[in-house]
Amino acid sequence: MSFKIEKIHHVAYRCKDAKETVEWYKKHLNMDFILAFAEDHVPSTKAFDPYMHIFLDAGNGNVLAFFELPNQPEMGSDPNTPDWVQHLAMKVKDRDALMAAKKHLEDGGIDVIGVTNHGIFHSIYFFDPNGHRMELTYDDITSEEKVSMITEEIKQEMLDEWTRTKRAPAHTHFLHAEELKEAKEQVPVGE
Ligand SMILES: [Fe+2]
Repeated sequence: MSFKIEKIHHVAYRCKDAKETVEWYKKHLNMDFILAFAEDHVPSTKAFDPYMHIFLDAGNGNVLAFFELPNQPEMGSDPNTPDWVQHLAMKVKDRDALMAAKKHLEDGGIDVIGVTNHGIFHSIYFFDPNGHRMELTYDDITSEEKVSMITEEIKQEMLDEWTRTKRAPAHTHFLHAEELKEAKEQVPVGE
């Protein structure tokens, strides 16, 4: 191949209200508003569809963007996909930073799930005012060691087994052993 993707340049979601979104991300996640552009016509398709496009600083050159589209029907989410699936995860430095973020969010009236232990990282989850699920996470100190246990061969085997059975292969159950201990005790054998 003569090219390789270098990084994610930005990700873009729809928002209900651009101003509310800018203010929410600053207040609750301390993310700066770095750029806006707006047109009445879409540059790529030329369609008339007035929009405000806002860009927020997600650290280290990462950019989170939103569109407000007042002429389109109200936004919704994919009704057939559980609302925990589609989400955006952003990294914080360590557990202290995560706990500080959790407290800050909860003090601001936001419902937070977690801390959830994923073995290689630890996460909290909440929703932004547009209904997008957000995750904040920090890497576990054993992360590199645990990831190195998941070899190329294991990854491929997992994918093949999943494709065949549509049931979770057991190779990486060690990652969630702690978090899912109780849940697994409730699942009948064979399920
Ligand atoms: Fe995630």
